Amino acid sequence: MSERVDQQEMRNDTVRSLVRALEKHGPGEGAHADRVAVYSTATGQKLGLELESLICLRWAAELHDVGKISVDPQLLRKFGKLTDSEMAQLHAHAELAMRVLEEFDWLAPIVPMVRHHHERYDGTGYPEGLGGDDIPIGARIIGVAETFDVLTQKSPWREPMGCSEAVDELQRCSGAQFDPDVVEAFCAVQPLIQPLGQAP
Ligand SMILES: [Fe+2]
Repeated sequence: MSERVDQQEMRNDTVRSLVRALEKHGPGEGAHADRVAVYSTATGQKLGLELESLICLRWAAELHDVGKISVDPQLLRKFGKLTDSEMAQLHAHAELAMRVLEEFDWLAPIVPMVRHHHERYDGTGYPEGLGGDDIPIGARIIGVAETFDVLTQKSPWREPMGCSEAVDELQRCSGAQFDPDVVEAFCAVQPLIQPLGQAP
């Protein structure tokens, strides 16, 4: 096996180990990461990203919430309305991810995608309030993929939406929360990627 393939496998294994650590900290986070990675990669491919960019996008999608390892697990599981302080602690996960990612220099390209996955296209997101094309494309893709996953999965506080209802919701937020080109690409590939882990 070539050195390059060996290195790629080692890196994939490292990403998998970090996702497993996240799953131990917050049960359900690992499966969420895996689904967001599938949705993001399909969307990135539709948008014409090249192979190297798609590999980085997949790692970023797997690790987009890895900063939650530094968030109190009780808070991750809290049911009901969060206080302002709890909300701030939760929002900090986008920046706290850096503590983990900076340990691996080869993960440097994914740092902006992870850090900015909660920005909004209209500039009202966090942590920096970036808007439009100032948000890295990978972060814009992960934002759409993550929302679709959250909407279509069962949670303690609500029943899952069906696919078409979730797609309607993404389209409703296109241009405000989401990049319209990303929503269009996601919607084009969505029939190929039914919600994973959910009965058809
Ligand atoms: Fe997140």
